[in-house]
Amino acid sequence: MANVKFIVQPGGRIHGRIRVPGDKSISHRSIMLGAISEGTTTVTGFLEGADALATLQAFKDMGVQIEGPDKGNVTIHGVGLRGLKKPEKPMDMGNSGTSTRLLAGILAGQDFDCELVGDASLSKRPMKRVTDPLAMMGAKIETAEGGTLPMKICGHGQTLKAIDYVLPMASAQVKSCVLLAGLYAQGKTCAEEPAPTRDHTERMLNGFGYEVVSTRLDNSRTRACLQGGGSLKARHIDVPSDISSAAFFMVAAAVSEGSDLVIEHVGMNPTRTGVIDILKLMGANIVLENAHEVGGEPVADVHIRYAPLQGIEIPESLVPLAIDEFPVLFVAAASATGQTVLSGAEELRVKESDRIQVMADALQAVGIDAVPTPDGMVINGGQQSPQAAEIQSHHDHRISMAMTVAGLNAVSEVVIDDCANVNTSFPTFVSLMNEVGMQIESKQEA
Ligand code: S3P
Repeated sequence: MANVKFIVQPGGRIHGRIRVPGDKSISHRSIMLGAISEGTTTVTGFLEGADALATLQAFKDMGVQIEGPDKGNVTIHGVGLRGLKKPEKPMDMGNSGTSTRLLAGILAGQDFDCELVGDASLSKRPMKRVTDPLAMMGAKIETAEGGTLPMKICGHGQTLKAIDYVLPMASAQVKSCVLLAGLYAQGKTCAEEPAPTRDHTERMLNGFGYEVVSTRLDNSRTRACLQGGGSLKARHIDVPSDISSAAFFMVAAAVSEGSDLVIEHVGMNPTRTGVIDILKLMGANIVLENAHEVGGEPVADVHIRYAPLQGIEIPESLVPLAIDEFPVLFVAAASATGQTVLSGAEELRVKESDRIQVMADALQAVGIDAVPTPDGMVINGGQQSPQAAEIQSHHDHRISMAMTVAGLNAVSEVVIDDCANVNTSFPTFVSLMNEVGMQIESKQEA
């Protein structure tokens, strides 16, 4: 793949009215649930990024007829819970942890064997967190030593039994994997999590007419349960804009003087809005307008204007609700006056990169006082502007985009190397950022 560099010129006031692409988590699930439902599911606002396309291709590989995507429109001809076909070759999950972990749950319930492979970054990520509960359900799964991809799922001749699983970590992917396998299991499957994580799987299953009962226990634990052996009914899904993509624009506007930006139709699922709560605690001026609901998911327009930010101690309860936004929140902390402390976020170490180490290195490279800790980071912000530097993204789209935003307040040019990965979640990132006032050149090198 050609190397893509982002060359960021400092300065710029962020202004305008934009819409960012569709939510990645909801896009994945729309294909998965559409494929195993009965009837034809139509999707609008589908994210045409490499990760969601990996999910789409996997279901095509399993014989599902899918039309699109065409400008965010997809039509899925569902084959029912038992209609998937054995793929002819290993299915390539690319860079996508969500595709891999959620699919593993569905594949464990199929009466065929298959294999999942991925790129260099995904092939290092932990899969034991899903193979452990699936093994408890009776699935036969082989991984590489160390519990990584490639993963062979030997569904042929196996039956799954329901489990009552207590997740060792707050992970929507693990919860979703268990629930999706639970569709194929005999009895009632429950997934209990230590803190609430994104609940798109539960909402969408309910939307497809498949009952999931979610309860909030004391001490902030949550529990979602379903009975195996039912069926899903096809429907229409309108995918809201991705709050995780909107976050780069929120921070860009929050840290550059004179900014005034509206981001339309952003998903406001309460299990995803930690970034707004954290930015508000730091003093950001954010107002939600035009709040309404689309297909079981709340949405609103996010209006953000520049206001000086202060460092804070980030409440640990907000960590799972902002888990993908920390790279860019660290950039906000670098601009804020005073100290920002993040703790309880060790999950960041097993994302597309080790986001604690990689962001601490990147911020230090531009001269910011950022100290990594085992489960977070301490940033002493507002002391000096980012300096010129060349940054490595470490195969991680959110590092590429976060450090681009860091370039906004830099003293001179910031270069980010290895940015083709931005295509996984936000193919139009550079053009949209330039439209609202940034100056980014995307340069392809042979
Ligand atoms: C996701 C869950 C989160 C998140 C990822 C998408 C999902 O991962 O980081 O980008 O769609 O379920 P974990 O479950 O590993 O926290």
